[in-house]
Amino acid sequence: MKRIGVLTSGGDAPGMNPAIRAVVRTAIFKGLDVIGIRRGYEGLLDGDVMPMTASSVGGIIHRGGTILRTARCERFTKPEGVREGLARLKEYDIDALVVIGGDGSFRGAYELHKLGYPVVGVPGTIDNDMAGTDCTIGFDTACNTALDCIQKLRDTASSHERLFLVEVMGRHAGFLALEAAVAAGAEYVLVPERKFDIEDLCKKLNYAHKRGKHHSLIIVAEGVMTAADLSAQLKDTGGYDARIIVLGHIQRGGSPSSFDAVLASRLGGGAVEAVVRGEAGVMVGRTSGNIVTSPIQCSWENKKDLDEDMMELVEILGI
Ligand code: F6P
Repeated sequence: MKRIGVLTSGGDAPGMNPAIRAVVRTAIFKGLDVIGIRRGYEGLLDGDVMPMTASSVGGIIHRGGTILRTARCERFTKPEGVREGLARLKEYDIDALVVIGGDGSFRGAYELHKLGYPVVGVPGTIDNDMAGTDCTIGFDTACNTALDCIQKLRDTASSHERLFLVEVMGRHAGFLALEAAVAAGAEYVLVPERKFDIEDLCKKLNYAHKRGKHHSLIIVAEGVMTAADLSAQLKDTGGYDARIIVLGHIQRGGSPSSFDAVLASRLGGGAVEAVVRGEAGVMVGRTSGNIVTSPIQCSWENKKDLDEDMMELVEILGI
């Protein structure tokens, strides 16, 4: 093992830069060369690579986004694309690859692993929907960004006695919506993992109104429906007039929180250590405070479910 490659892939997440920095500097510490691959698997297929040094990752630990840039690569979802990627890795004498990204990116890594190529995954996504780690890189920062926005909305919602609907990211997962709902004291949360009943929501809003509550916040994960659609349903069923806010890609940007910068540093370093130990086809995660590895495919095969107590907490505290 002389030279490793590193790439970021899929949706960016705050903390990807500290993860790249940790991979590069740990690898150099262990006597390995590092090649950075730009724009994820797209850049691998296009040969968009660059040697990385300790100083090339200087001044990035506090920056959001990813200096390697990222992409969702359609070509790499096909067997020909994966074979082509393997050929490029061999051409550049890259002996192992560290992939920083979400489960879509890990599926590509798993295909490389099945062809006998050593890969190690570092979980980076604001969705937190990956088994094998309590938290993915970027989740904490995205929650704090959402919370900051929602707290501001709460001020104006209470002054004007309004109902606000906040749409947060999460096409298939409600971790971000649920965390933000509890942290912001929302009255209701809609997540893709649970059935939604408009009658039930209207009943709760009516009850809160009767108790003298004149403003409410509802968090909706984009995977359930848009805030605009929810607003239309609330109007039709309960006659409610809601204001809507879509937080969108703001949640993916910004400087990583302390939690994410530390997590990224530990997981990036842990990935290189796993490579050096000869582990392959694994993901590095942090569970109960420890850095651990698990088979990379477990990140999507073992479903990580929402915490039922947290769901209940929104109900209990939001009345
Ligand atoms: O996977 C991260 C994520 O931000 C999801 O929460 C969201 O549904 C998706 O990416 C949006 O992807 P894109 O930026 O490609 O529209």
